[in-house]
Amino acid sequence: MNFNNILLEEQGDIAVITINRPKKLNALNKETIMELHRAFREASENESVKVIIVTGAGEKAFVAGADISEFADFSVEQGTNLAANGHKELFDFVENLKTPVIAAVNGFALGGGLELAMACHFRVASDNAKMGLPEVSLGVIPGYGGTQRLPQLIGKGRAMELIMTAGMIDAQTAHNYGLVNHVTKQEELLAFCVKIATRIAQNSGVAISSAIRAVNANFKDGVNGFDIEIEEFGKCFGTQDFAEGTSAFLEKRKADFPGK
Ligand code: COA
Repeated sequence: MNFNNILLEEQGDIAVITINRPKKLNALNKETIMELHRAFREASENESVKVIIVTGAGEKAFVAGADISEFADFSVEQGTNLAANGHKELFDFVENLKTPVIAAVNGFALGGGLELAMACHFRVASDNAKMGLPEVSLGVIPGYGGTQRLPQLIGKGRAMELIMTAGMIDAQTAHNYGLVNHVTKQEELLAFCVKIATRIAQNSGVAISSAIRAVNANFKDGVNGFDIEIEEFGKCFGTQDFAEGTSAFLEKRKADFPGK
């Protein structure tokens, strides 16, 4: 599959998606959002891919936000559609993907960039990373899920302050807030994420997909997460992975999950 703005590398168990517009600090224009949708879909549909890592090209930015030049003259209707399409094509899509997604935040993650990182299942940052939702400094609010996912991750008060000040926090503060799970040196970021991905890939892919659905259910309106957990737990008993995982334990050998 050909892309203009991203790179997709599938190496065995792990797919790495790199947003590749470094001259524009990897800002998310419409085409990049559509390409990311296709790349995430393709990687997730590839049965050999167990984990996806998303990062930004260059040493400066993960993603410096939605591409401001594309929406500066939008009407109310166009603004509403911009947010709605973004949720559907990328941010909700990534959050609900059955394949785990790690954000390797290698520099600025601002606006839509932080919103993309927050839609991923968890985040690792390099020590030069800076994160924030600067939208109110442009006269708009975060529209790709930031007003919802930031308070979920760091709490309401901190989220309100970060959004209202349009400020940026560094990687260490993001780590203290629980926004990122780990901080590494920039040159070690990808290898560190691959190491975590390799550990994930050894486990049952179908069980991990069930866990993603159950954890996400906690944050969905009108959905009882405990009910989803019970449903997904039960489903596991009908999988080949469960038969393999339990047999391997009882036979004192390492499980070799078929991912079914
Ligand atoms: N949309 C479109 N273009 C962007 C962009 C964005 N969100 N962020 C950066 N760029 C472009 C710049 O316009 C510039 O392009 P040019 O060289 O053609 O003029 C290029 O990327 C480099 O950015 P620049 O501002 O020169 O880099 P810097 O090191 O001086 O500043 C930032 C870095 C991240 C602080 C600054 O680019 C910035 O504030 N970006 C916007 C962040 C933002 O508000 N995001 C939320 C959008 S809703």
